[in-house]
Amino acid sequence: MALKFEVLGKFNRARAARLALPHFVCQTPLFMPVGTQGTIKGLTNNQLEEIGCQIILGNTYHLALRPGAELIDDLGGLHKFMNWKRALLTDSGGFQMVSLLHLADITEQGVTFQSPVDAKPMLLTPEESIQIQNKIGADIIMALDDVVKTTITGPRIEEAMYRTLRWIDRCIVAHKRPDEQNLFGIVQGGLDPVLRDICVRGLVDRNLPGYAIGGLSGGEDKDSFWRVVAQCTAALPEDKPRYVMGVGYPLDLVVCSALGADMYDCVYPTRTARFGTALIPEGLLKLKNQAMANDERPIDPTCLCMVCRNYTRAYLHCIVTKDPMGSQLVSYHNLSYMMRLSKDLHTSIVEGRFPEFVQGFLRVQFPKGD
Ligand code: GUN
Ligand code: ZN
Repeated sequence: MALKFEVLGKFNRARAARLALPHFVCQTPLFMPVGTQGTIKGLTNNQLEEIGCQIILGNTYHLALRPGAELIDDLGGLHKFMNWKRALLTDSGGFQMVSLLHLADITEQGVTFQSPVDAKPMLLTPEESIQIQNKIGADIIMALDDVVKTTITGPRIEEAMYRTLRWIDRCIVAHKRPDEQNLFGIVQGGLDPVLRDICVRGLVDRNLPGYAIGGLSGGEDKDSFWRVVAQCTAALPEDKPRYVMGVGYPLDLVVCSALGADMYDCVYPTRTARFGTALIPEGLLKLKNQAMANDERPIDPTCLCMVCRNYTRAYLHCIVTKDPMGSQLVSYHNLSYMMRLSKDLHTSIVEGRFPEFVQGFLRVQFPKGD
């Protein structure tokens, strides 16, 4: 195991912890911005450090296509290649293929897909995914899982869950750097509590360094989503990190942290920035709205980030979807907001005032009580 997880404070099921990874000592709950080709769109590494980012996500699928795992390995690993000093996490790649290329097909061997480079059929097996992730060298690597949308029903959900359990064993055998990289298993099983239970138990039996809850944020309603998270966190070990994949919105971070989750990742803060939407304590600020044209306030007067200290809503309204600098500045603010929220969750749990923090968050976000 290449991590140390120490719970510093608890409030009911919520926990604040210190997660020591090979490249960085993190504080949880934490939010991880998502990169594609070894970059978070529009932000420099210095800016990511400045806003308190602790782990960033690399994308195995994109990195394997370009520049290629061999080259990254030859150049000394992804940390050195992109000059990122803090922690990195790579996803296994299968999920991205299924969600990006509708051409992907899953069999017992692995995920088959058409190469977007030359349209040749390619196969990503659990062994290959781990081999590629061993070359990339992230602090946390993810098992190849069989992901199905939560909105489908029937025997496919069960098949995917059992296959995910069979594949974890192939991933464990293939993993050659367990002293430097932590392999996390991913709980699947759709919205079915019986299947989720079988999957959690199966993964816990493998005694992995950490666990993820997958297959969510695919269009299911909030109630079902939170129910699955609550069930999985209750069954996962107290002394290992719990990562909810592909989540999410600020409200999801607050609710899932209350349910005992520790880690999150989502493209949402940077994607929504590119469409001109800023995250603020009250919810969303649509910078393209005409009302912003002469608004001299910063995005969020309570935010101390570089963007809120230097730019008005009126200025951002003018440039936001017209110049790359516009989306870069809004991305910077949105990620700052997610980092501040993570830190506030951590501190409020450690200081024993988590309920007050949650009440305050909800009161500002839903002033009418709805
Ligand atoms: N990203 C968001 N959800 C998932 C999931 O269920 N599995 C994997 N591997 N990545 C994800
Ligand atoms: Zn700001």
